[in-house]
Amino acid sequence: MQRIALVTGGMGGLGEAICIKLAALGDKVVTTYSPHNKTAQEWLRKMNDMGFGFKAYACDVSDFDSCKACVELITKDLGPIDVLVNNAGITRDMTFKKMTKADWDAVIHTNLDSTFNMTKQVMDGMTDRGWGRVINISSVNGTKGAFGQTNYAAAKAGMHGFTKSLSLEVAKKGVTVNTISPGYIGTKMVMAIPQEILDSKILPQIPQSRLGKPEEVAGLVAYLASEEAAFVTGANISINGGQHMF
Ligand code: CAA
Repeated sequence: MQRIALVTGGMGGLGEAICIKLAALGDKVVTTYSPHNKTAQEWLRKMNDMGFGFKAYACDVSDFDSCKACVELITKDLGPIDVLVNNAGITRDMTFKKMTKADWDAVIHTNLDSTFNMTKQVMDGMTDRGWGRVINISSVNGTKGAFGQTNYAAAKAGMHGFTKSLSLEVAKKGVTVNTISPGYIGTKMVMAIPQEILDSKILPQIPQSRLGKPEEVAGLVAYLASEEAAFVTGANISINGGQHMF
């Protein structure tokens, strides 16, 4: 039977590559987009003109009730979710000295609370059905730390604490929970870093001397979502060109 895969923040960057990969493997792929996103319908049309058959739902992942309503609607329209990829995330990079409470809250709510908000909606169904995959997209900076990212690194580190604890609780129920920690991937988020910082501070730290490709991360998501990955749970898998090893 066709699986339903929900990828949060699937319009662009890593999320888009993940949606394309899972669809290519036969999943019915659903994504969420921020209610403020004015180009969502255009994106959806473009992707579906290419034959992907994506569905997209507006959802504020930082808001529990919005996630609840969104997943209820998806379940009613398509059926229960088998694979959840918690991918939506933002940055508000600045030194701690300049960071306001609002900058802290925005990143923690969008990147970490969202993981609870979305997973909470699908986990009981997965354990009841005896099969499920939750894949949390964290970051190299969750373990390594990064200049200007106290908020982001805290949220991304928190995601993996969540992964480890939840994976224990659902291990006997056929559900795996894993973290992927990408390094610097050639997405809009990374391209927003000032070029001189990228060239002088970041690229020299990457032994492969290049940014990663979204498709490389998508391939890892596809593996973790697969049947073959049934024994992988509670893991944090790096994909960072050798930048950071732990
Ligand atoms: N490492 C060490 N020193 C750094 C630095 C870095 N990465 N970035 C800036 N500095 C230094 C500058 O050289 C400068 O030093 P001097 O005062 O001696 O000249 C000083 O810090 C500048 O301090 P400011 O408070 O003025 O910093 P700023 O406001 O100009 O910029 C910043 C700070 C916005 C954080 C900028 O450094 C930046 O964008 N850094 C990149 C942060 C980053 O890696 N973000 C990742 C985004 S991608 C992502 O998050 C995806 C993923 O998961 C990997």
